[in-house]
Amino acid sequence: MKVQVCIIGGGPSGLLLSQLLHLQGIDTIVLEKYSRDHVLARIRAGVLEHGFAKLMREAQCGERMDREGEIHHGIHISHDGVMDRIDLSKYSGGSSVIVYGQTELTRDLYEARDKLGGKVIHNAADVTPCDVKSDRPYVTYRDGDKVIRVDCEYVIGADGFHGVSRKSIPKDVLREYERVYPFGWLGVLSRTKPVSAELIYAKHERGFALCSLRSQVLSRYYIQVPLSDTPEGWSDDAFWGELKHRLPGEVAAKLITGPSIEKSIAPLRSFVAEPMRYGRLLLAGDAAHIVPPTGARGLNSAASDIYYLYHAMVDHYKKGDDAGLDGYSNRALARVWKAQRFSWWMTMLLHRFPDNIPYDNKLQDTDLAYLFSSEAALRSFAENYVGLPF
Ligand code: FAD
Ligand code: DHB
Repeated sequence: MKVQVCIIGGGPSGLLLSQLLHLQGIDTIVLEKYSRDHVLARIRAGVLEHGFAKLMREAQCGERMDREGEIHHGIHISHDGVMDRIDLSKYSGGSSVIVYGQTELTRDLYEARDKLGGKVIHNAADVTPCDVKSDRPYVTYRDGDKVIRVDCEYVIGADGFHGVSRKSIPKDVLREYERVYPFGWLGVLSRTKPVSAELIYAKHERGFALCSLRSQVLSRYYIQVPLSDTPEGWSDDAFWGELKHRLPGEVAAKLITGPSIEKSIAPLRSFVAEPMRYGRLLLAGDAAHIVPPTGARGLNSAASDIYYLYHAMVDHYKKGDDAGLDGYSNRALARVWKAQRFSWWMTMLLHRFPDNIPYDNKLQDTDLAYLFSSEAALRSFAENYVGLPF
């Protein structure tokens, strides 16, 4: 089989890029390790930047997002028994974020790929990028006993943090920067009315909590837990009880609880791999960088990679201009590191760190006090939360 661009990974990054390139007449294939049902069962991001939404519309996938997604103009941070609101629109010069689940967005992308007859191979086993330093790279995968070879001009590694693409770059080329946090987030999805119309990020001495939502009848809540905890070890009652503890009294009193329809623990990690290009292999999204979810930057950072890659590929195929491809790694990393900084900062600001000394706790308090007393700090927060320009 021969295509122009072989994309490894059928998550949001891979699907969005393949859809955008297809619309420009560039031939792609997506190789996904798991079944479509498996990919769609993952509950992850909920907050989208407008830059991401714009790309979804350009990919002709924005209709349901625009209909069902909620525009949010502010968020709350609760701390020390008070709830402060950050007016995102006011401090970002009129911008906002869209609350629309990654699951729904991925479903929309799959449907769009189906409609155009896009090639998406599921359950592709042992996917292996080969000869990516040459002008004739190829990718192999296994379908049952058959090994299939896909010849291509470029390989896109959009296979997430645990994928094969990044690992195929030689160790003496790849530089990895990592910080692992000593806790995870236990997330619960429940078919209940959200406790608040806007997100609440809660700093509490028992640990961080987040009240988020997917719609007016679907809530998403998180609490910080030790890494040794398991979802099975947390009954629904124990989860709701702990969440209530960490919320201001008036919010806890309003919380509507119900059976969890999904419960999982995500470890928190900051990670960047450089460079994002090795020969004809280009990394995108979680394959190259991970953030702790606190600032809602992960999927949005993937979106900027896809934006740069999409334009670079179009320039290459339509104009014979390789400047975008040559500059891809540096350009993408410049924005990636800013999202890393914000996510790290917000994580440090709001979580309880088991090894904190009293000095660290004082700095957390001071950082929060500064945020809510300085218009410059609020502007900086809002600019980062709604997403820096691509
Ligand atoms: P992935 O979604 O990981 O997709 C990669 C795909 O590649 C997967 O389908 C995988 O099955 C496939 N794959 C893996 N290995 C192989 C292989 N060997 N061969 C072929 N295919 C392979 N981000 C935000 O912007 N906002 C938020 O509000 C937010 N909240 C989050 C909350 C939680 C709890 C978590 C865990 C994450 C959150 N994120 C958020 C981050 C966001 O979910 C990720 O950044 C996003 O999924 C990255 O998309 P991706 O396509 O690059 O990678
Ligand atoms: C969600 C996740 C986040 O990490 C975040 O900062 C905001 C919302 C969510 O899953 O809804």
